[in-house]
Amino acid sequence: MTVYNFGSINIDMVYRVPHLVNAGETLSSRSMETVLGGKGANQSVAVARAGAHVKHVGRVGSSDQWAVDQLRDAGVDVSLVESIDGPSGHAIIQVDDAGENSIILHGGANQSFNRTLLEVHLEQAVPGDWLLVQNECNDLATAIDIAISKQMRIAFNPAPMTAEISALPLENCDVLIVNETEAEQLSGSSDPDEVMAILAKRYPRTRLVLTLGSKGALLQFDGKIYRQAALDVAVVDTTGAGDTFVGYLLASLIDGLDDEACLQRACTAAALSVKTLGATPSIPTAADVESFAA
Ligand code: RIB
Repeated sequence: MTVYNFGSINIDMVYRVPHLVNAGETLSSRSMETVLGGKGANQSVAVARAGAHVKHVGRVGSSDQWAVDQLRDAGVDVSLVESIDGPSGHAIIQVDDAGENSIILHGGANQSFNRTLLEVHLEQAVPGDWLLVQNECNDLATAIDIAISKQMRIAFNPAPMTAEISALPLENCDVLIVNETEAEQLSGSSDPDEVMAILAKRYPRTRLVLTLGSKGALLQFDGKIYRQAALDVAVVDTTGAGDTFVGYLLASLIDGLDDEACLQRACTAAALSVKTLGATPSIPTAADVESFAA
């Protein structure tokens, strides 16, 4: 079973700062690192490190072949990643002393998709394969439409949330993973149990997963709800923690783990990821996750 992850590849420029910059303020950073990121690339790396087969569907600027090499080195199938003229997607990320971040995105190559390209990239997908998708590439509606027509399963992480998301046919998602902000925008409620009740009514066949940062995560499916507390770890950088969670959750489902075990494994992987600076560099291996859980 293959995961086709239609997702962004970003060049992340990560600045360590004493606090997140205020309006009108000029602030010197303590350090700067350039690493592979993007919600799509991060999730592909997490799926691969968790042990599932993932083909990344994405695009980068031709001067950033190193990013593709790093994806491949992490175990991701990059045969559907194209290098094109023009800039890659990139992110300017501030990380403060508490490990919180703020991010400015530039879409670049991530915003250059169309139906023809997506049909070619998903041509080999067969019923039962997964489409994994976030919200940093254009033409999500087309990707979801193709996946439905090919009887693929769909895992959707609508991050970062935009107004257009509500118009997508989310009732076709097998897995929907949202954080508190995304959940509130989708459901209109900020209460986790109410969110789950509203979304379960709206999307009855979908596995709903709500991540709550330091308060853990919830998974609801088939009338049952599972809760997992967050693990207590020293936070260096939360960038990519949500992506690590998504990749591990999906790979664990594919591996046949039950819902409770999937949630536990995803939470453990996400907790480990906040101990290291940077998005893809911080995504743990399956062995790290197993030994931490033990
Ligand atoms: O989720 C973290 C990611 O968000 C970063 O890697 C950055 O590229 C932005 O897309």
